[in-house]
Amino acid sequence: MTQSHPRISKAVIPAAGLGTRFLPATKATPKEMLPVVDKPAIQYVVEEAVGAGLTDVLMITGRNKRPLEDHFDRNYELEEALVRKGDQERLAKVQESSDLATMHYVRQGDPRGLGHAVLCAAPHVGSEPFAVLLGDDLIDPRDPLLCRMVEVQEREGGSVIALMEVDPAQIHLYGCAAVEPTGDADVVQVTNLVEKPDPGDAPSSYAIIGRYVLDPAIFAVLRETQPGRGGEIQLTDALQKLAADESIGGPVHGVVFKGRRYDTGDRGDYLRAIVRLACEREDLGPEFRNWLRSYVTEEMQGL
Ligand code: G1P
Repeated sequence: MTQSHPRISKAVIPAAGLGTRFLPATKATPKEMLPVVDKPAIQYVVEEAVGAGLTDVLMITGRNKRPLEDHFDRNYELEEALVRKGDQERLAKVQESSDLATMHYVRQGDPRGLGHAVLCAAPHVGSEPFAVLLGDDLIDPRDPLLCRMVEVQEREGGSVIALMEVDPAQIHLYGCAAVEPTGDADVVQVTNLVEKPDPGDAPSSYAIIGRYVLDPAIFAVLRETQPGRGGEIQLTDALQKLAADESIGGPVHGVVFKGRRYDTGDRGDYLRAIVRLACEREDLGPEFRNWLRSYVTEEMQGL
């Protein structure tokens, strides 16, 4: 059933959220532009899409999101200044983000939920399977996930979501999936989905993390999906309809992720992402690790 699918090339990145958890930093700056070490969080997400072979990126933005467009565009004035200085290294860094992928933008208008944001991508995506990457979830570049999801979607058809086992006390923060095993250890069949279940109602401790490879049948389902949890049109609710009836858009599979993932929308996790990624950097890592070691030792002595 899968051979007829064209190669997946489009990624959709919803980026219209207000970022209230990071106020006042996000009063005039989109949360997606907050730096993780020295790159804005959103650049990691675009790089991840490109790393999985996706060359066409559509961002769903909203008001106050112009800096996102500027970041992925050329900045001739800055580039010329760096050329004049002969600073090739920084010039390469500036050009990197504008050379990554073909970027497109569409505005969501009313913030009516993640499902509605994905629906805004329908005219651009057309009738091909496509990926959705949520900007708040940063997947460590050393633990590829999206590549595996694309591979599973191309083999199985239908839709594929990323799942991660979380502490049952945390499952109310996520979409939650009931699953059955398949022949592959890291792949499950999704049988039921609930968005942010109340404690005690969760069908499992498998949380949806923000990566999806979707069959375009999701658009017709989203058009019919009524507001759910939080009064918003939920992507999870539309996926539940696909999971419950394979005749709509094929099966829904989950790839179970065991790597490093940071929720950069959460201040504590955002700091952890910066520390971890800084430690691994060749240029900053050695010195930063030394400092961190002595800092932690001092802290422990103070206990
Ligand atoms: C969204 C989805 C949720 C998913 C989560 C992953 O929720 O609705 O199903 O588990 O992203 O980060 P949000 O965190 O945007 O409220």
